[in-house]
Amino acid sequence: MNVTPLISAETIQRRVAELADALSRRYADREVVLLVVLKGAFVFAADLMRRMTIPVVVDFVRARSYAGMESNGVVALTFTPDTPLEGRDVVIVEDILDTGRTSYAIREWVRAKQPASVALCVLLDKPARRHVEIEADFAGLVIDDRFVVGYGLDYEQQGRQFPDIGVLGGME
Ligand code: IMP
Ligand code: MG
Repeated sequence: MNVTPLISAETIQRRVAELADALSRRYADREVVLLVVLKGAFVFAADLMRRMTIPVVVDFVRARSYAGMESNGVVALTFTPDTPLEGRDVVIVEDILDTGRTSYAIREWVRAKQPASVALCVLLDKPARRHVEIEADFAGLVIDDRFVVGYGLDYEQQGRQFPDIGVLGGME
């Protein structure tokens, strides 16, 4: 896989630590349910939760909308958490906010469970690509409209293992 470096592992870890601090402060003295969006967010979530200083419960959700690099616009949840969400403080942990459709659909699903609160925490935000109106409550890094891989993010299931984030393709 030909990848051009974009965000170093050091930068990622620094931002993840800052996000963990922000979450720990926001939910001080409470317990949050981290709802991790599979598969892309599992690396981010693993680092994030280990830097949080408040109690967390972890569960997972899986949504399907992507084939290759293009979203077909339809989002279906193919795995849902069995943790009861009613009355809980839920933080959706997503790798990247792109068109916004995936996060939007997941947040609607969570809201229907009547949580005490729901927030969206993303590692990366690509605002240029947004198709639905949604913003992250906690965002790590804003990037341009480039397709990136690494640190959990894949292209056709490859590249998740890279500790850095890079742009697919060579230098332009
Ligand atoms: P959205 O529904 O368009 O916001 O897409 C969100 C999902 O698309 C993410 O959870 C990723 O799985 C995938 N995605 C979007 N952009 C990228 C990218 O640049 N690299 C890898 N996956 C991406
Ligand atoms: Mg994903």
